[in-house]
Amino acid sequence: MPRINEHYRHLKASYLFAEIRRRTKAFTDANPGVALINLGIGDVTEPLPAAVVKALHDAADEMAQAKTFKGYGPYVGYEFLLADIAGHDFATRGVRVGLDEIFVSDGGKSDSANLQEIFATDCVVAVMDPVYPVYADSNVVAGRTGPADDSGRYAGLVYLPCTAENDFQPALPDRHVDLIYLCYPNNPTGAIATRETLARWIAYAHEHDATILYDAAYEAYITDPALPHSIYELDGAREVAIECRSFSKNAGFTGMRLAYVVVPTEACGRNTAGERVSLNALWQRRVSTKSNGAPYVIQKAAAATYTPDGKKQVRVLIDFYMENARTIADGLAAAGLTVYGGRNAPYVWIRTPNGASSWDFFDTVLSRAHVVGVPGSGFGPSGEGYFRLSAFGSHEHARDAVERISTRL
Ligand code: MLT
Repeated sequence: MPRINEHYRHLKASYLFAEIRRRTKAFTDANPGVALINLGIGDVTEPLPAAVVKALHDAADEMAQAKTFKGYGPYVGYEFLLADIAGHDFATRGVRVGLDEIFVSDGGKSDSANLQEIFATDCVVAVMDPVYPVYADSNVVAGRTGPADDSGRYAGLVYLPCTAENDFQPALPDRHVDLIYLCYPNNPTGAIATRETLARWIAYAHEHDATILYDAAYEAYITDPALPHSIYELDGAREVAIECRSFSKNAGFTGMRLAYVVVPTEACGRNTAGERVSLNALWQRRVSTKSNGAPYVIQKAAAATYTPDGKKQVRVLIDFYMENARTIADGLAAAGLTVYGGRNAPYVWIRTPNGASSWDFFDTVLSRAHVVGVPGSGFGPSGEGYFRLSAFGSHEHARDAVERISTRL
């Protein structure tokens, strides 16, 4: 029998959202008549924008004709979509991104899990704590950490605590790190990065020859016009930052799967001889080795989000979910809970009352209010004592969840 990758055994028994699904199923199996409201995993609930649906139909028709049929596409994405991304997501904000710097993929989750592969296994990795669990888990299985301790901290990872005490803005690492995962607007706390915040990180990365893996999956939810949407809006970022974006949360593509990574040509790592190596070239090699690109029909659908109609329809979706975020944040604050986020992000981050642990509060909210949320500790040890509700759902569910949590706990 072959030996397994032992690093997998360091992971917690199940992935956070799989564990929530397991507990939720156990509850509904035991209480079959109960109508749950699911504000757990941040999964969109509204249908796709009309412009996207039309593009899907049109692309399907193209696939039905010999003349317009498409087989394997470019590894990195079709040029029509690369041009839309460069033009609409970056040029409109004064940012220059070349088409050869954009890599379209089948999802932000896989991108954020895979990027670590082009770096050495002895790189020291820093993660915001709490944060999307994929960053830590992918480094665990790559062998960059040891096992987790009782608080869930993996040996060898550098945790950057984000709590109410520091306004959910982590201090710079007090040691050298090579890779820094930042996520803004933040999942799960809803914290945002100002230009000053990003400038500090970019300066640190230059000083330490580090690379920032910047996850901007929720940038469309930024409402404050003073906030940067891309790390490349800051000087010096192109040399030290890789940015991930996704169509999941803005255009409702969680079931369609489409995202992209920007790797600027200036971004470099170092080989064992100490020579500079282009990260763009490495990522290009990785993508062409492991992927045959994202489906044509889905890329056409994504391109439709950049048309005038598509843009308006995507904005309607974002406004819809942000109304839920306000309903949840304001409603729970009025009920006496301490809440954060929900202003520039589709997540509301709640202090658990009376010092309850995150999982205890999860169980209480599930069993009494019949609402599914996410225990903060699932996002990292500093999430202990917090609980996340997602704004993805109907207005009715957002209102009812607030009413149930306010009256039934
Ligand atoms: C979340 O709920 O944190 C995210 O939706 C999970 C994901 O994007 O994979």
